Amino acid sequence: LAKKLKVTRTTVWKTLQHVSELGIEIQKASGQGYCIPGGIELLDQEKILSELSTTTKKLFNKLEIHQTIDSTNQYLLQQKDVISGTVCLAEKQTAGRGRRGREWISPYAANMYLSVFSEFPEGISKLSGLSLVVGIAIVTALEKLKFKDIQLKWPNDLVYQGKKLGGILIDLSGDVNGPCNAVIGVGLNIKMPPDSAIDQPWIDLQSIASKPVSRNKIIGKVLESLLTHISLFQKHGLKYFLKDWQRLDVLYGQEITLSSLKNPIHGTAKGIDDLGNLLVKIGSVIEPISSGDVSVRIK
Ligand code: BTN
Repeated sequence: LAKKLKVTRTTVWKTLQHVSELGIEIQKASGQGYCIPGGIELLDQEKILSELSTTTKKLFNKLEIHQTIDSTNQYLLQQKDVISGTVCLAEKQTAGRGRRGREWISPYAANMYLSVFSEFPEGISKLSGLSLVVGIAIVTALEKLKFKDIQLKWPNDLVYQGKKLGGILIDLSGDVNGPCNAVIGVGLNIKMPPDSAIDQPWIDLQSIASKPVSRNKIIGKVLESLLTHISLFQKHGLKYFLKDWQRLDVLYGQEITLSSLKNPIHGTAKGIDDLGNLLVKIGSVIEPISSGDVSVRIK
């Protein structure tokens, strides 16, 4: 390394200390050199955008890739004059946000932290099913990459064999019945370091796949699917995707517990309605539950 970069060995050593500070594991073999076990694939704008079709490119505005950012959602929320199809990706988030005020663990060069800005002329009241469609978009992209058995847990978790693979967080602003904006954030575990301090069972795509996965390819395919699905949702609404939801719904028929602010509720999950509410059979009555601040557990 020192010879190739025309620097001293000490400079190499010092620089690699900064790499370790990013959370990347560096193995040292004395007298031989350094190694990043499993290698590293940094985000590459060209590779990601090469996955977009000509049709989807019309829905796309620009892609910003940040090395470190507080939160990709927060960043897009703070931008002025941002327009639909603006996308933000980061190698690392220092204040990644999850649902219900939780932190989203976001180590460097490991996963996908992506946010897309979208304008909706018809208002927030028409967006109740958006996060469900975003979930469908991601699973559809992963299925095209030959990943099987990834499911959706209402309202916005991606799961594989009961473990969390990703999540969706949508920040809305604007009018209830007039023009409004959505920052659609998606976190997807691709190659999560095994010792990550996550407080629930989790999995990443690398553990599901039988061969090495490419972050750039996965992100490109997810972005393609996301932009297409958002546009279809704008035209047709959630109704258009109900069959997809039925196919991917991990909760259907399961005994579940809903925890909200007051008392937990027990019932049987019965799919969703046209507005994206979860239908839960409680006793002999089927109740629609809106996502709000509810968390769902399979009993
Ligand atoms: C969840 O709690 O399941 C939602 C997680 C959403 C995480 C993503 S990562 C990209 C975007 N930026 C954020 O700060 N959060 C979302």
